Amino acid sequence: MKAVHIEKFGDPSGLVVIDAPRPSAAPGQLLIAVETIGVGGVDAVIRRGTLGSYGFREGLIPGSEVAGRVEAVGDGVDASWVGRSVWAFTGVGGAYATHAVARLEDITALPEGLSPVDAVTLGSSGPVAHFALAHARLAEGESLLIRGAAGSIGIMAVQLAALAPRTIAVTTSSPERGSRLQSLGATTVLDRSGGDASLEFDVVLDIVGGPGLPSFLDRLAGNGRLVSAGVVGGFPPDDFGMALFRAYQRSRSFATFSLDSVPVGARNGVRETQLESAARGELKAVVHDVLPLADAAEAHRRMDAGEVFGRIVLTV
Ligand SMILES: NC(=O)c1ccc[n+]([C@@H]2O[C@H](COP(=O)([O-])OP(=O)(O)OC[C@H]3O[C@@H](n4cnc5c(N)ncnc54)[C@H](OP(=O)(O)O)[C@@H]3O)[C@@H](O)[C@H]2O)c1
Repeated sequence: MKAVHIEKFGDPSGLVVIDAPRPSAAPGQLLIAVETIGVGGVDAVIRRGTLGSYGFREGLIPGSEVAGRVEAVGDGVDASWVGRSVWAFTGVGGAYATHAVARLEDITALPEGLSPVDAVTLGSSGPVAHFALAHARLAEGESLLIRGAAGSIGIMAVQLAALAPRTIAVTTSSPERGSRLQSLGATTVLDRSGGDASLEFDVVLDIVGGPGLPSFLDRLAGNGRLVSAGVVGGFPPDDFGMALFRAYQRSRSFATFSLDSVPVGARNGVRETQLESAARGELKAVVHDVLPLADAAEAHRRMDAGEVFGRIVLTV
């Protein structure tokens, strides 16, 4: 099969098209003839080599999210899956390829009317946004600031939060992106610094991390909660928690959130519901561009250049 692997950590030129052995479905797995691949912010973080200590090695076929048709099933998987259109989580890699394998519990059947492009735009980011907001215990009427809202997770968080009336502030790098976020439900557009330092929020959903994180802990109202669901700007400084201690009397909280901590059944249930909502047009998949698999390096260049609003999708 054709695949793209990380020949060398670093800039996008390290992503190279190769011929690789086609995987086969082990017991409990399905083999998928891939149609689309979602290019996530985390793929770029892995490609840069910054997650080396988490066990990622050069030679990895990156990507974790595909849609396509089931071509074969391993032992223990019902053969009626063969031929069905599915969304699949492939684990910590293996998606940038013409064929991919996934465990049965990581498969969601595509609802009628949902394109494979839209499926890989929402399939992972939707549940992350849903459970990250739940982790922050975002309650009715509470105000929310989404930092790094122009990515796939932020865009889903904006749309989900806007299902009930509340203040939804977003940080973004340009007024044009701000108006696009407003059309999805944001009520207040701030620059990347977060604008007026006196504005406070009950919940901050942070996709960025990096050196700016402590200043966003300072934007929490009393009893406010900041949930970190991404680190596209790198890890925060070691002493970031001091921002909480400096406002001890305000009982603010910080938490990380990973979808890995959510039981697989709950994740799948939310994903099914969201994909059905998207098929009915109630949730919007914001696709920045669709490129062929062989252009994976170009997709990463655009991500690194900060051009992407929503998600780039690769097609086979
Ligand atoms: N928690 C989980 O379970 C989970 C699951 C999957 C992925 N992730 C994580 O989520 C992140 C990717 O999410 P995504 O795809 O939604 O994000 P993304 O598209 O990579 O980035 C989101 C937005 O952040 C802004 N941004 C980028 N760099 C910035 C910087 N240095 N300072 C301030 N703003 C910056 C950009 O918007 P503007 O230019 O408009 O500011 C960008 O569009 C990764 O860190 C990944 O590890 C988490």
